[in-house]
Amino acid sequence: MLTLVVPVVVVAVAGVYVLLLETLFKRSECRGAADMSGKAAIITGGNTGIGKATAMELARRGARVIMACRNRRKAEAAISDIKKETGSSEVVYMHLDLGSLKSVRSFAETFLKTETRLDLLINNAGLVADGRTEDGFGIEFGVNHLGHFLLTCLLLDRLKETPSSRVVTLSSMAHRWGKIDFENLITNKDLGSGQYSWQFFQAYCNSKLCNVLFTHELSKRLKGTNVTCYSVHPGIVKTELSRHVSLWQKIFIEPVATLLFLDTKSGSQTTLHCALQEGIEPLSGRYFSCCAVQEVCGKAKDDAVARKLWEVSERLCGLS
Ligand SMILES: *[C@@H]1O[C@H](CO)[C@@H](O)[C@H](O)[C@H]1NC(C)=O
Repeated sequence: MLTLVVPVVVVAVAGVYVLLLETLFKRSECRGAADMSGKAAIITGGNTGIGKATAMELARRGARVIMACRNRRKAEAAISDIKKETGSSEVVYMHLDLGSLKSVRSFAETFLKTETRLDLLINNAGLVADGRTEDGFGIEFGVNHLGHFLLTCLLLDRLKETPSSRVVTLSSMAHRWGKIDFENLITNKDLGSGQYSWQFFQAYCNSKLCNVLFTHELSKRLKGTNVTCYSVHPGIVKTELSRHVSLWQKIFIEPVATLLFLDTKSGSQTTLHCALQEGIEPLSGRYFSCCAVQEVCGKAKDDAVARKLWEVSERLCGLS
């Protein structure tokens, strides 16, 4: 009996593994050939994980890369790695704390004063955590959505002045489980109820839904310009995103992550596709996964909700 059971189990496990590698954990490759020399890119959170892998490839293609990060020491370490590996001298640090609207404004001011063009804005930074931003917003809503929202708005004129510039915003397939409760947002400055700390995963999904809706609305506001925008599911990547989760979650996630999760280079491919692939401009506003455009569910392309999120975000940032 055992002689039969063992091979059946082995084949079943291998089958499930292959199936997972072909679906949820599928790899893809950016085939865009765009040369980036003479062009400038801002990447938020480029000091680690898929952000660093993205910055590395942009630098390799000759872009001037502005690393918009909170921690100077970590950013300078990443910059030194990137320079060493690519031979580029055009990778610079500019301080940005997305959890502070004041910092976002000061970053934009410095950037606009010192840099002449902006070809690519990559809204890459994201976190899963519990807590509040400097301005009192739920930290995931505040950093993952609102900070990037304000940053993009403040840089929009410069993007418009630069021929065929792009805005790429990192979302996640987790946006499918997201909800947007405007009443809660206005009274509680967050998209969760704020009652239970374990809701930080729900808050993450909510913020990722904001990223997709933001891109949807942004593309409409960019009609008639040469600026296009895209949202991205990078894949399920082994990153430091889980650095804030508890020990038992780490113990559970680590072994699975090692077998299945994408490394940071694979995890940067869809972002790079949206940044570098020629001819995708007609797909502005859409959501990409595995280097291809993907249909999203109704709530992620709801025109009225996307417009309202934009207007509420403007108010929360003091833009209107
Ligand atoms: C967009 O690009 C085209 C082709 O380069 C150019 O002719 C046109 O003036 C640009 N439009 C705007 C609004 O910048």
